[in-house]
Amino acid sequence: MSIERLFPTQIYTCRPAAAARLGPRLLRESRQLRLDDASGRRWSTRNYPGGYTSYGSACRMHRLSPTFAALERAIDPHVRAFARALELDLTGRPLAMTDCWVNIMPRGTAHGLHLHPLATISGTFYLKTPRGCAALKIEDPRFDRMMAAPPRRRSASRANRLWVHIPAQAGALVLFESWLRHEVPANPAGERVSISFNYGWF
Ligand code: NI
Repeated sequence: MSIERLFPTQIYTCRPAAAARLGPRLLRESRQLRLDDASGRRWSTRNYPGGYTSYGSACRMHRLSPTFAALERAIDPHVRAFARALELDLTGRPLAMTDCWVNIMPRGTAHGLHLHPLATISGTFYLKTPRGCAALKIEDPRFDRMMAAPPRRRSASRANRLWVHIPAQAGALVLFESWLRHEVPANPAGERVSISFNYGWF
């Protein structure tokens, strides 16, 4: 008897030293951006209640700030390594960062289930993650086809769960394919700060 695991959902995590060195400057710039970005604060009031994101305003920070451009250079090799692990055939066009934005989540702020349309690989680099802060929650991508599927045991392994939590840890980089639906549940701890980004292949 054998059981073959097919169509795996792959999540890449690491702690890139080059990005960690930028952490304090990125955190300062992220807080300054929240002060300066009135249109982003208005956008966040409607779309990110209680928190601040530059997703609707300054969503190409790697083009605006040398510090964020340095973060892009620190992330690039990891995205390439992940693409190799996924065995993507990227012949003919570059896989490059298209968007990069700031997320500041105080206690109680949530980010509902979503995916990143028109992107190839997405991810987050964590800057500030107080103990007990909200994790990244990912959903089994086959979920919408499961009509008569029983629930999973509470003790099910991570590989067999329908939702998996990836803990948010300052200095960690998490990459996933952009079609993977995910959310950040209401943050039960203090201010959680991260930078998210998309890589596109078009
Ligand atoms: Ni997202």
